[in-house]
Amino acid sequence: MKTASTAKRNLLTTSLLGLGLMFASQASANDCELAISANDAMQFDTKELSVPASCKEVTLTLTHAGALPKAAMGHNWVLTKAADMSAVANEGMAAGAEAAYVKADDTRVIAHTGLVGGGESTSVTFSTAGMSATEAYQFFCSFPGHWAIMQGSFKLKA
Ligand code: CO
Repeated sequence: MKTASTAKRNLLTTSLLGLGLMFASQASANDCELAISANDAMQFDTKELSVPASCKEVTLTLTHAGALPKAAMGHNWVLTKAADMSAVANEGMAAGAEAAYVKADDTRVIAHTGLVGGGESTSVTFSTAGMSATEAYQFFCSFPGHWAIMQGSFKLKA
């Protein structure tokens, strides 16, 4: 009787341990999903975003909580290494509205969403392959004149 209950307990312990290891090796999908909101006052609602470094893919959803149209107060979410931000933003602005202010095939762009206007939302899923927990990344909106204010840090947390 005693032996049987000990065995059962051991089995339970082993199962819980296995479950714990499963969570430790791969962050849960929720941890790899981010949401950010932007408004008519040219602001994101956060200056810092991060995900566990164990995320293989990250999904970011951008919501434009304002009411102004895309042509007047458009927002997108662009991710680059911090060092690349200003050049990518300036070249994106030069690429124009047809390109949604992101230069085509810009390899410095790690991820970007489309441009949204008030009341719209959009998301992007990107791979973290090639990204590092020791690198500084920056996200920003590349709509002309926005990136100086609409930017923040992005980290992979080791
Ligand atoms: Co913007």
